[in-house]
Amino acid sequence: MTLVFVMLAEVLIFVPSIAFFRLNYLIKITDFAHLATLSLLASPDNMVSDELREELLFRVGARSVVFHGANSRLLILSENMPPSIDADFDLADRNPLMLIEDAFMSLMIGPGRIIRVVTPIENEPNSSLEVVIDETPLIAAMYDYAWNIFLLSLIISTLTAVLVYLSLLWMMVRPMRRLSESMIAFRRAPEDITRRLVPSKRQDEIGVAERELEIMQTRLRAALKQKQHLVALGTAVTKISHDLRNILSTSQIVSDSLAEIKDPKVQKIVPRLMTSIDRAIDLCTQTLKYGKAEEREPKKERFLLAALVNEVKTSVGLSEDNTIVWNSQIPAGLMVNADRDQFYRILLNLCRNSVQAMEAGGVIDISAARTANHTLFRISDSGPGLPAKAKEHLFEPFSGSTRSEGTGLGLSIAHELITAHGGEILLERSDVNGTVFCLDIPD
Ligand SMILES: Nc1ncnc2c1ncn2[C@@H]1O[C@H](COP(=O)(O)OP(=O)(O)O)[C@@H](O)[C@H]1O
Ligand SMILES: [Mg+2]
Repeated sequence: MTLVFVMLAEVLIFVPSIAFFRLNYLIKITDFAHLATLSLLASPDNMVSDELREELLFRVGARSVVFHGANSRLLILSENMPPSIDADFDLADRNPLMLIEDAFMSLMIGPGRIIRVVTPIENEPNSSLEVVIDETPLIAAMYDYAWNIFLLSLIISTLTAVLVYLSLLWMMVRPMRRLSESMIAFRRAPEDITRRLVPSKRQDEIGVAERELEIMQTRLRAALKQKQHLVALGTAVTKISHDLRNILSTSQIVSDSLAEIKDPKVQKIVPRLMTSIDRAIDLCTQTLKYGKAEEREPKKERFLLAALVNEVKTSVGLSEDNTIVWNSQIPAGLMVNADRDQFYRILLNLCRNSVQAMEAGGVIDISAARTANHTLFRISDSGPGLPAKAKEHLFEPFSGSTRSEGTGLGLSIAHELITAHGGEILLERSDVNGTVFCLDIPD
């Protein structure tokens, strides 16, 4: 590209310079002719021998030279047979465009023309010089000149191209190669610190890219390490939960046989013992379930929402004495497009939390509405609101629970399942007057 561009620039320069070259050539000839006429004008009768005339014409490179004085016309030098003229050029009235045109006409028409060049004489007003020349040597010189310019341009553009190529290679390609090699190396072995990119001090975009890449790699490496630790920790927790559950099952069997002892003291302790063992087993089971990698992908189907909400109602653990009012306002025909099982678990978790929060009684409102291709749910209760700890760790596994028998998994599971549906769960309000969760599920 550099080669082509420099050559193009040279062509643009060549056009005026060839015109200039031709002009200089003509001026030089007329200057010589002027000198010759001066020597002639100095001789008696303005006459010289035939040999000298021939010699002078040959030196000037002209066929004839005519001097126009203020009021005389003087044919000073001429061959015996004056040639016929093909073209006239008055150097006094040539503008640059005309000069360019003259030069290209000469090149196009080619050698063989006889031309007459008229030029005013310096310091002698009203006098001029008329020189008739054969254009052939002029055209040959012009071709020589063009050829030289072409060679020179070729050398300049090749040199420029080599320099541009080398500097691009040095300043752009090499650092980019370093960047991409570092990316590939990082992708292959992210832990390998020895192949880390050491950023240069460059201030341009490449420098920024190098530094950003280094920061990104360092952070990713740290995150990766942390993740590995967490995986190890998770595996350990799973193993512990698993073994603990087995041990607890044994205790459960033992406490079952304890229940058969009629001693009132034992009878008083056994139920408490059994509930705590049950809870402990439940905790282990839930932890194991959570640890079992991710939930499966939702299998979406269309189902009637009202029926599902009824199922949730029967299993949410409402007490017999109706202290909690269940107020479901689901439109009869409302269909939802979601994974039915997972959606059941989402609602059950939320509703069970509400029931658990309202031991003294209260109201649960469930409503749903459809917009274009979303279903919006609102589950609200008149309970005491989420405790601060639960709010701070909202949707985080294991950390938000404030109940002694809780695991802190309910909300985080609901969040995970909704997100897998491409939907959203929001805590719209939670204060002493109650708690409102909103769900948004796209079809
Ligand atoms: N509707 C609610 N009203 C009051 N507190 C709630 C409500 N829902 C959740 N919480 C609080 O958030 C905590 C975390 O809930 P969750 O993730 O379901 O875990 P868990 O029920 O096992 O404790 C609960 O312990 C409870 O304190
Ligand atoms: Mg819960």
